[in-house]
Amino acid sequence: MKKNSITTLNQFISDQQNKFPYVQGSLSRIFSAIQLAAKMINRDVRKAGLIDILGNFGETNVQGEEQKKLDVISNDVFKKLIDMGSDCVCIVSEEDEGVHWCPDGREAKYILAIDPLDGSSNIDVNASIGSIFSVYKRPSMDKPVTEADILQMGRHQVAAGYVIYGSATMFVYTTGNGVNGFTLDDSIQEFCLSHPDIKTPENGSILSVNEGNLNDFPKGVQDYIAWCKETNKEEKRPYSARYIGSLIADFHRNLLKGGVYLYPPTAKAPNGKLRLLYECNPMAFLAEQAGGKASNGKMRIMDIQPTEFHQRTPLIIGSAAMVERIEKMMGSEASGT
Ligand code: AHG
Ligand code: MN
Ligand code: MN
Repeated sequence: MKKNSITTLNQFISDQQNKFPYVQGSLSRIFSAIQLAAKMINRDVRKAGLIDILGNFGETNVQGEEQKKLDVISNDVFKKLIDMGSDCVCIVSEEDEGVHWCPDGREAKYILAIDPLDGSSNIDVNASIGSIFSVYKRPSMDKPVTEADILQMGRHQVAAGYVIYGSATMFVYTTGNGVNGFTLDDSIQEFCLSHPDIKTPENGSILSVNEGNLNDFPKGVQDYIAWCKETNKEEKRPYSARYIGSLIADFHRNLLKGGVYLYPPTAKAPNGKLRLLYECNPMAFLAEQAGGKASNGKMRIMDIQPTEFHQRTPLIIGSAAMVERIEKMMGSEASGT
């Protein structure tokens, strides 16, 4: 990036189109729609306390979770803006039980999965929240898309990213050619390149996990957490604990500084809590593109074959050396060594 130069997200995407032909019209129009959705959600998040859109919507979603008003608003914004184009066949959303088939999407090339608002327990307390998206190519243009076509492995993603509504609002995405981050300049309402070619440190000293569930974690994870707390100056241990309860916010911090985020299986949630299609896969794609790793403790997240839209999986994600160490400690438990 040239000193003092400004590159907007739109300019960046149009440059990418010249370099990588598959980032073509249709995919870039999806980016435009997501970008506009992000600006509209950002506007609502910033003034939510003033216009009575904090708090619960009064219903539970398909996962049995209490929906916040902003969950519902964000879901509607995403669907409305994507439906205005004809670039997506359908949308799988955390907030909708079934697939949303886009009205003009019969001839479209792409399938979208979204967590319209992540970290919704943080909405009412003014802590960081975000939106996550994941884009897949439709397997065949010759026949209609079936539900089975939507259940693709994460390794087939053509694009993924998130928008974090934090102390600043940022758009971070990948199309498989590295990870780039754009900060929203409020005064001109444009996302501007601020974090080009993000690379995550190979190792780190931040541990992000809900330790309240410690007694319920597999022994390998408990052992890892105990190891993180031991003193070893050369290895920068004890590590620092950082956990806000928004995957995006915890992931974003670790992506930039080096660290690991864990949501292990528990007795209450044997497959963990996080959803494969619209939480784990997109974050895994970003992590890997930045040089990090994402695993369920046994295998690469992006190699898991989904069987359900709202499928959950344990998640270990972040700096490669940290993910590998946890996998090893969990593996040695499985093999009894
Ligand atoms: P969502 O708000 O989309 O339902 O996701 C919340 C998720 C995730 O963002 C976060 O890391 C995790 O739930 C926190 O769970 P705990 O409160 O169990 O730690
Ligand atoms: Mn979420
Ligand atoms: Mn959500």
